[in-house]
Amino acid sequence: MILPNLKEAKQRTNKEVVIKTNEYHVDEELKSLGVNKKYFLKTYGCQMNEHDSENIKAILEEMSFTETDVMEDADFILLNTCAIRENAHNKVFGMVGRMKHLRETKPNLITGICGCMAQEETIVEEIMQKYKWLDIVFGTHNIHRLPQIIKEKLEKQKQEIEVFSIEGDIVENIPVKRDSKYKAWINIMYGCDKFCTYCIVPYTRGKQRSRTPEFILNEVRELIEDGYQEITLLGQNVNAYGKDLKIDYNMANLLEDVAKTGIARIRFVTSHPWDFTDEMIEIIKKYDNIMPYIHLPLQSGSDRILKLMGRRYTKESYLKLYKKLKEALPYSSITTDIIVGFPGETEDDFKETLEVVKECEYDSAFTFIFSPRIGTPAAKMEDHVSLEEKEKRLYELNELVNKYAKKANDKYLEKVVPVLIEGVSEKNPTMMMGYTDTMKLVNVKNAADFVGKIVNVKITDVKTWSLDGELVID
Ligand code: 5AD
Ligand code: SF4
Repeated sequence: MILPNLKEAKQRTNKEVVIKTNEYHVDEELKSLGVNKKYFLKTYGCQMNEHDSENIKAILEEMSFTETDVMEDADFILLNTCAIRENAHNKVFGMVGRMKHLRETKPNLITGICGCMAQEETIVEEIMQKYKWLDIVFGTHNIHRLPQIIKEKLEKQKQEIEVFSIEGDIVENIPVKRDSKYKAWINIMYGCDKFCTYCIVPYTRGKQRSRTPEFILNEVRELIEDGYQEITLLGQNVNAYGKDLKIDYNMANLLEDVAKTGIARIRFVTSHPWDFTDEMIEIIKKYDNIMPYIHLPLQSGSDRILKLMGRRYTKESYLKLYKKLKEALPYSSITTDIIVGFPGETEDDFKETLEVVKECEYDSAFTFIFSPRIGTPAAKMEDHVSLEEKEKRLYELNELVNKYAKKANDKYLEKVVPVLIEGVSEKNPTMMMGYTDTMKLVNVKNAADFVGKIVNVKITDVKTWSLDGELVID
C-alpha cells in the first residue's frame, strides 16, 4: 500500500526525469485474467483524463477484459476522477454508492477509483475509513502499474492503494485504445509548475515533464499512417513545453515540426498567456494545418485578483496578447476560462472581468465559481462573498458570454467552412456532426457518406452553441 502525501506532492525535486520504454508490462498469467469479463470505465474532467482513460482501456484489453457501457453488466467498475472542483467529488461518491449496491449482488465484482481525486490525501483517508470495500485505488502516476495493482488485490484480498505522490518517470510504452478513428489526443507534457493559487493540478499531476520531440513526432506519423485527420497536443500549459528538456527546443519548434508532418489538423490545449511567444504566433500563422483556434484562460480581469491567483500577467498584458493574436490571426476563434468569486473578489473586481469579456468578445467561455481545494493557498484566503452573490455574478457573466458566443457564430451565416465529419449528430439523428477549423460544432445535412473526411459546409442556421449547415458539392 502506497498512500498519497500532500507535502511530498508539493515538492519540486531536481531528480532527472527518465524516459522508460519498457516499464509497462503485463505478466503472462495476467493476460487472460479478464477472459469473459467486462469492464465499465467512467471518466470525469479534462482531456488529459479522457486520454488517460484511453490508456487504461488498452491496458484492460491486454488483460482480455472487454468494454461495456452498462455499469450493471460489468465485472470491473473503475471511475477515473477529477479534483479540480468540489462538485466532481459529489458526483463520484454518488456513483460509489451505486457501486456498493451492485457489489452486494455480485461478490466477485472489482471496484476502483483512479485519477486526480486518488492523488488527494484527504480523499484516500475518506476511502480507507468509509469505503473499505472499494477494491483498488491508484493515482495518475501509477496507470502503467494497473495489471500489478489488480493482481495484488486479488492475491491479498484486501483494499489495494497505490498512489505515488512524487511524479515518476515518463513511461513511453503504455498502450492506447483511441475513442475516435479520426481525432487523437497526444500528450506532449505532463504536470504543471505554475502553481496558480486556486489550482490543485500541480499537486495531482506533479512537476512539468515534457516528452521528447522524437516520441511525439513518431506518434503523429503513426496516426497519419492510420488515417487520422486531427491531433490535439495536450498539456496543462502547453506553451511551456520544452522548458524542462535538456535541449534547446520549445513549443514553437514543436508546432512547426508537427505541422511539417502534413497531418491535416493540429490543435493544442491549454495555453497559459504567460508563455505565449511571438514565435508561436508566427508559426500558427505560417502553417495552414495549425488550426486557428486558441484557448486562452483569463481567469479574472482584475489585476488585484490576478495577483492573488498568482497568474503572472495583468489585465493590460493579457489584452495586449489578445489583440496581437487577433491581428495576426483575424479569422481565429478564441475561447477562455473564467473563475468568479475568488476569495475577496469585490463587485469592482468582477466588473473588470466583465470589461475584459466585452473587449475580447470571446467565441465562448468556460465559467466557474471558485471552489476551495484543500492544500492550495487560495483555500486558506479569507472569503466574505456569499454563495448567493457568486451565483449572481456567474449568471451575469454567462449572459454576457452567451451574447458574444451568438455574435461570433452569426458571422458564419451563409459562409462556407471546412468541417471534419465525425458521426451522427446527437441532437438530430438525420444529420451528421463535426467541427470547423475554428472549433465550432456544426450539424450537417446529407453528409453521411463523409465520416472521417474534411468537407466544405455552407452554414444555413446559427445558434448560440452550434451551427447548422449543408454539404457543398464541388
Ligand atoms: N475553482 C474553480 N475553478 C477552477 N479552475 C481550476 N481550479 C479551480 C478552482 N479551484 C478552472 C480554471 C481552469 C479550468 C480548467 O478550471 O478556470 O482554467
Ligand atoms: Fe492549474 Fe495554473 Fe497549472 Fe493551469 S497553469 S494547471 S490553472 S496551476
